[in-house]
Amino acid sequence: MTGKGIETVRMDPENVSDVIRIAGENLSEAWSGETYRRQLENPADHTFIAYLDGEPAGFISAWYVIDEIEINGIAVAEKFRRRGIAGALLERVFKELPDASACLLEVRESNTAAIALYKKTGFEKAGIRKNFYKDPTENGIIMIRRK
Ligand SMILES: CC(C)(COP(=O)(O)OP(=O)(O)OC[C@H]1O[C@@H](n2cnc3c(N)ncnc32)[C@H](O)[C@@H]1OP(=O)(O)O)[C@@H](O)C(=O)NCCC(=O)NCCS
Repeated sequence: MTGKGIETVRMDPENVSDVIRIAGENLSEAWSGETYRRQLENPADHTFIAYLDGEPAGFISAWYVIDEIEINGIAVAEKFRRRGIAGALLERVFKELPDASACLLEVRESNTAAIALYKKTGFEKAGIRKNFYKDPTENGIIMIRRK
């Protein structure tokens, strides 16, 4: 193997466009480009991009608030899925914020791929937000990973 494999890199002014593109192509609830750019000034923000052999493949957006990690979004480009990229992005966030007491996120009830990923990385169901999502309307599952 001469490839570099999966590399995770913190979002910066040079690579924020990779986040905006991956989010726009893969997330139904993507933020606007302006909102991702604003995160560069947000001290609570921890956004990382995964590169597979140098190609932008996925990203994770997280905030660290008091002592909890809140995952705002995670997405991997379709052609790079099932290669451990989302798992590597979650691990990078946990490694960056070792003092966090918990990690929280919300996911559409029908998103079986994401729910399987979160269960595999130590999350459990913590609650339901009825009809939280729109277009289509759907329940949100709140998941938590405790330290
Ligand atoms: C969910 C998502 C981020 C997973 O990314 P990924 O890089 O393919 O995930 P990984 O390869 O790290 O998967 C890790 C584990 O998660 C589970 N998993 C991931 N995708 C799965 C799928 N389609 N079906 C079942 N289990 C799945 C598996 O347990 C997998 O381990 P395995 O491959 O050894 O079986 C990706 O499918 C995606 O971007 N989806 C669209 C955006 C999205 O829904 N984001 C979440 C919003 S809350």
